[in-house]
Amino acid sequence: MIVFAQHQRTTPDLSGQKPSRKILVGPYLRLAREFAWPYRVLLAVAAVLMVMEATLQGSLAYLLDPVIKSLFRDKDATMLFILPFALMGVMIVKAAVSYGSNVTLARVGQGVVTDLQGAMFNKVTHYDLKQLNAMHSGHFAARFLNDATLVRESVTKGMQGAVRDLLTLIALSVVMFYEDWRLALIITSALPVVALYTLTLGRKSAKAARRSMMSTGDLATHLSEVLDGRRVVKAYRMEERSIERATRILAERMKHLMRGARARAAATPSAEALAGVGVAAVVFYGAYMGIHGTMEINNFMAFLAAMMLSYQSIRNLSSFYTAMSDGSAAAARAFELLDAPIEINDAIDAKPLVLADARPHGAIRFANVTFEYSAESNAALHSVTFDVPAGKTIALVGPSGAGKSTALNLILRFYDVTGGAIEIDGQDLRGVTIASLRDQTALVTQEPFMFDDTISANIGCGKPSATQAEIEAAARAAAAHEFILKLPEGYDTVTGEAGVRLSGGQRQRIAIARAILRNAPILLLDEATSSLDTESERAVQAALARLMKDRTTLVIAHRLSTVAGADRIVVLDHGRVVEQGTHGELLARGGLYARLYRTQFADEAEPPAAVAE
Ligand SMILES: Nc1ncnc2c1ncn2[C@@H]1O[C@H](COP(=O)(O)OP(=O)(O)OP(=O)(O)O)[C@@H](O)[C@H]1O
Ligand SMILES: [Mg+2]
Repeated sequence: MIVFAQHQRTTPDLSGQKPSRKILVGPYLRLAREFAWPYRVLLAVAAVLMVMEATLQGSLAYLLDPVIKSLFRDKDATMLFILPFALMGVMIVKAAVSYGSNVTLARVGQGVVTDLQGAMFNKVTHYDLKQLNAMHSGHFAARFLNDATLVRESVTKGMQGAVRDLLTLIALSVVMFYEDWRLALIITSALPVVALYTLTLGRKSAKAARRSMMSTGDLATHLSEVLDGRRVVKAYRMEERSIERATRILAERMKHLMRGARARAAATPSAEALAGVGVAAVVFYGAYMGIHGTMEINNFMAFLAAMMLSYQSIRNLSSFYTAMSDGSAAAARAFELLDAPIEINDAIDAKPLVLADARPHGAIRFANVTFEYSAESNAALHSVTFDVPAGKTIALVGPSGAGKSTALNLILRFYDVTGGAIEIDGQDLRGVTIASLRDQTALVTQEPFMFDDTISANIGCGKPSATQAEIEAAARAAAAHEFILKLPEGYDTVTGEAGVRLSGGQRQRIAIARAILRNAPILLLDEATSSLDTESERAVQAALARLMKDRTTLVIAHRLSTVAGADRIVVLDHGRVVEQGTHGELLARGGLYARLYRTQFADEAEPPAAVAE
């Protein structure tokens, strides 16, 4: 878990943000079809409002023409009561329309992205273990949030750029051509140069933003590692190293942030300088024409206004391209995630698992099971064959890495066997629905996981319909009721990530209560290796005994009491079954079990573990 100081992750991989210079059309078509379509009415409203905005902006520039002509040149008193109000009206309506279009568009952008994130979350929770294991949670979270921002920006900026800004430019150009077409020709021919320049600045700041986002992802990952691994960090005095790494990331992030800030800061002064050149040219030409009697002051003023206003639209458009290319890359990544095939699936003709009528039921059979985690790795299980008869308890024993947890994973279909088959009451697991299979099983993991929720919720998570009385009964059976009542808020105490910490034994008992409440006929237990004090050991043991009664149980045993109490023991080594039998038989045989017994179980008082995380 704590790997930060050893390998310096280089940023480019982070959140997979390869700067793409292209706008990919495919992702947008799909985004439009699958995610934007529900918002088509709102989009149409936004489009209409933006057309109005463009028209009003054009009208505003044009209005200066009659204002100056009638009021200042012709000194028309009747117009005095019309034109100023017309100007005011246009500006007020434009403000209202602009508010409406911004809010509508934001609603569409947020809606599309929220739906997209919902779909992504939905998909990822259904990923199989192999896919989940391959994901780095910190990076995924950063990408999940980052890409959402990029897609949203591309939706809003894309619409604004393609509709509002483009139409505004056209409207203002119309005004310019109307006022003086020769001057308009000169000015619009300079437009591409200005556009190119702003585009470059936009790209620069977007690139810097992308890089700083990557550093932010690095920072988030590092932060969560330091917090999650706090005990290791302190015990091994890794504070200095983690501070150093944080400092490096922060400096890197600042570098990119400053680049972005400089690019953005450069935009305004250079824009003004450019505008200065434009104004000078227009003033010179206008005045020259004025002196020679071919241009009126009213035409000149309206022209100047249209020119100045168009710069704003060009500036808005400068980020259009990067927003669109970044957004399409982000959408492509999101779709890649959505399209990833999930290998562990219900077969097309999958039937629900049907357990035998007579209880106890749920006999498990491993028949020649071979399994490898990946094509490159060695098989974790080789032709493993054993039976867990209904209602009996089978203990899996073996050295570390023997394949015990793997066997448990296969029963839950976290992975599918590569060879052979696992059957429950005669049904191949690959032929039954995953939901029915998992509904019949309860799992107690080695390191019980607590959700950031109340004790009640943590016990009840396996059975959403459970009543408080049922939860308390399960806690009693798991010998957890007493200590829960002593917690600050009893069953309502929040535990897990941000709540009250529980001891290892307490967590185990909560996990056992969880399994008791689930009341499943098949029980899979990965016994904790951490030593408990005698009292809680006894409490846990009693709770387990109650839980195992009349259930088909496969337990990875680390304690003598569990092994001795099992109906049969299966000894695994290097992924193979090397011995099977009862405790007595195996001891008499003098094989691996006898050796393990002497080293592992004989002295039940294990030495205290170093820092266990
Ligand atoms: N997710 C995984 N991907 C690839 N290989 C794995 C994975 N999980 C376990 N393995 C490998 O499979 C083998 C069996 O591991 P397994 O976790 O089943 O051992 P175990 O018997 O439970 O050991 P322990 O007693 O230490 O928990 C090991 O060689 C391990 O490296
Ligand atoms: Mg294990």
